[in-house]
Amino acid sequence: MIYVTRKTHFNAAHRLHNPDKPDEWNEKVFGKCNHPNWHGHNYVLEVTVAGEPDPDTGYVVDLGSLKKVIEDRVINKCDHRNLNLDVDFLAGIIPTSENLVRAFFLELKNEVEKISSAGSKLHSVRLYETERNVAEYRP
Ligand code: NI
Repeated sequence: MIYVTRKTHFNAAHRLHNPDKPDEWNEKVFGKCNHPNWHGHNYVLEVTVAGEPDPDTGYVVDLGSLKKVIEDRVINKCDHRNLNLDVDFLAGIIPTSENLVRAFFLELKNEVEKISSAGSKLHSVRLYETERNVAEYRP
C-alpha cells in the first residue's frame, strides 16, 4: 500500500461555543476559544490517499487533481471565512479540530476516490490548528 499526501493551508476564524449550555459553562470549558468576537488560526491541512499505483501512470492519485478537489471542496469554502457562520457543510457543529477533520473527510471522500487509482481510498485527513495541536480522522 502506498500513501500519498497533499499538504495545504488556509486561514479562518471560529469560536468554540455550545449554544445548548450556559455562558458560564462555555467560558469554563473553552476559555479564550469562547471569546464572543472570534479568533483565527493558520490551519495546515493534510489529505492522504492510500492505494496501489495505476499501471499506466504510476500514480495513486495525480497531485494536481487532488489539489483541485481539496480547493473546490474545502479551501475555497473555508479560507478567510468564519467557520461558525460561512461554511454550509459545517453548519450546526462546534468547529473544534476534531469536528473539522471528520467534516472535511466526508466532504472530500467521494471526489478524491473518483480521481484516484482503482481501489484507492481516502485514508486520512489531518488538521494542524497550531504547530503543536493536531487532529486526524482515519476511519
Ligand atoms: Ni481556536
